[in-house]
Amino acid sequence: MTSHNSTILVTGGAGYIGSHAVSALQKAGYQVIILDNLVYGHREIAETVLKAKLIVGDTNNRPLLDEIFANHTIDAVMHFAAYAYVGESVSHPDKYYRNNVVGTLTLLEAMEAAGVKNFVFSSTCATYGMPQTEFLTEDHPQNPINPYGQSKLMVEKILADFDQAYNLRSVSFRYFNAAGADPSGQLGEDHDPETHLIPLTLFAALGKRDSISIFGTDYPTPDGTCIRDYIHVNDLATAHLLGLEYLLKGGETTKFNLGNGSGFSVREVIETAQNVTQKSFNVVECSRRPGDPSRLVGSSEKARNILGWQPQYSDLHTIMTHAWHWHQQRHKLK
Ligand code: UFG
Repeated sequence: MTSHNSTILVTGGAGYIGSHAVSALQKAGYQVIILDNLVYGHREIAETVLKAKLIVGDTNNRPLLDEIFANHTIDAVMHFAAYAYVGESVSHPDKYYRNNVVGTLTLLEAMEAAGVKNFVFSSTCATYGMPQTEFLTEDHPQNPINPYGQSKLMVEKILADFDQAYNLRSVSFRYFNAAGADPSGQLGEDHDPETHLIPLTLFAALGKRDSISIFGTDYPTPDGTCIRDYIHVNDLATAHLLGLEYLLKGGETTKFNLGNGSGFSVREVIETAQNVTQKSFNVVECSRRPGDPSRLVGSSEKARNILGWQPQYSDLHTIMTHAWHWHQQRHKLK
């Protein structure tokens, strides 16, 4: 990848996926400005680890956005800032529509006013809803089953309209299950509260939790537990760089799945955690968590073909080894 003098505004750059994207942008020679309200992001990741310029604020703050665009020549925006707890989105949909939809609309309006035309958006496989095929492709119908997925789909639709009306071009990346951590051990997943399977399993291995629960053992899958497509966060970050370069070269608005195309069950994840950590911990079989499809595995052929994207860390053992290094270090610090 070549070096650039372009400046990229990264919203949510102090969060999990955003921080890995900032690191990838910096390594490729881009200037980065992070906008993060620090509700879930981490100041020390942005300032101490990434040593990036951090503006603390919200995408709903139009005057702040206008000031940022007036004071800096921004070539593109990468938009990671969002709430992403599916369960909370069901109990507090207003929070999700305000932050994820209205906040993004405000950002897009400010971009339009400032003449910034390139937008890379964090979407999700949760926009598909219940899968009708074994491998989800980008043309699979989108019928989200929760407000989180709805909020991301609404933004995808807004983006299509902004392209038509204002020539604001965008790439939407529909992530499957983001996992792993930067191999340096400096960046990783640190959600509070944590709800995701891999970190919770590693917390059990660290003794920070008594056990890991399996949510449902009666799914129509080979071992009865849900299957997901886990994709390394550095591979997501690389895709964002490629998506950005695609837009900067004049590529048209489009969307891409980002996954490995291989599925692992909850039991397989737990077994891999036991192998990686060499720790034993209690596993408790529980009832299903509402709203979980039995299998979510994506085809990312389109990203491979159009962007030339090639995941580097597709092996689950490697993904979990990187996550384990991160959590071991993080645990020592806390
Ligand atoms: N699971 C357990 N025990 C746990 C936690 C999770 O068995 O303690 C199971 C879930 O039921 C699910 C699988 O592990 O079957 C993975 O669950 P995660 O919570 O780690 O991730 P999700 O598959 O729910 O991820 C979804 C969507 C993403 C979306 C994300 C938002 O696939 O697109 O929620 O957090 F971004």
